[in-house]
Amino acid sequence: MTATIIDGKAFAATVRDKVAGHVARLKEEHGITPGLAVVLVGEDPASQVYVRSKGKMCAEVGIASFEHRLAEDTSEDALFDLIDRLNNDPAVHGILVQLPLPGHLNEDLVINGITPSKDVDGFHIFNVGLLGTGQKSMVPCTPLGCLMMLRDHHGDLSGMDAVVIGRSNIVGKPMAQLLLGESCTVTIAHSRTRDLPAVVRRADIVVAAVGRPQMVPGEWIKPGATVIDVGINRIEAREKGVNEDGSAKTRLVGDCDFDSCAAVAGAITPVPGGVGPMTIACLLANTVTACCRANGLPEPEGLTA
Ligand code: GUN
Repeated sequence: MTATIIDGKAFAATVRDKVAGHVARLKEEHGITPGLAVVLVGEDPASQVYVRSKGKMCAEVGIASFEHRLAEDTSEDALFDLIDRLNNDPAVHGILVQLPLPGHLNEDLVINGITPSKDVDGFHIFNVGLLGTGQKSMVPCTPLGCLMMLRDHHGDLSGMDAVVIGRSNIVGKPMAQLLLGESCTVTIAHSRTRDLPAVVRRADIVVAAVGRPQMVPGEWIKPGATVIDVGINRIEAREKGVNEDGSAKTRLVGDCDFDSCAAVAGAITPVPGGVGPMTIACLLANTVTACCRANGLPEPEGLTA
């Protein structure tokens, strides 16, 4: 069997188109422009790349983006002052504090300082509780993107066996909650799971979110299963050689061994071009959702969990 490739890049473009349509209607019919504030503390190069691309995507769909770049040695008090101002700013409907934060800042405290209704990352303890109890919440972007792709591919997920590999607060746990909400039978596997291959082999849906390059081989996959690969890992390129700056050539791979998994699975997301593009698209979707809720307007259809 050769798997259907679930094209996250193309699907993310359709999500962004929908978002852009909602943004245009909010502007025309209500005079409201959804706004997203992104806070970056320090100089982490990967975070700078993410923040820049978030700003660019906001511009493309018509969301106002407010970037706040703070020095590496910013105090917790100064960061809380900024978050307070953003919490109270009516032009800001979503607030994202880019993680990781420098070591002297307590990430949990900072995230829990964001007003839950503006927490477009869905990381606030209040949103975690709402999701866990099946209530309307802000849903973390990466699991939301995975869910959208699964619904698009399968329609009804009810009764399917789902295995989520990885128990992070950002992906694994909320992904499991979302799948439970779809009436899947959900297993969360992790580094201490006994006989992981046998656990994964039971699954109709495998979501791999561990951050270990090519950890899941095709032999673990049940024939016809759907594989959602959340991993984005940089490894040495197949071809030898160096870049112009002398650094070794690299390539991106997921947590699944793509070639062997694609030979067995019914459908699979590639890396790059699978889950990754969906994450930012869902951040934009969450910003529009937050804006609609803040203004007592109906939620955008197809953009929420
Ligand atoms: N850093 C890497 N991914 C994310 C994300 O989804 N949200 C935030 N806030 N920081 C991140």
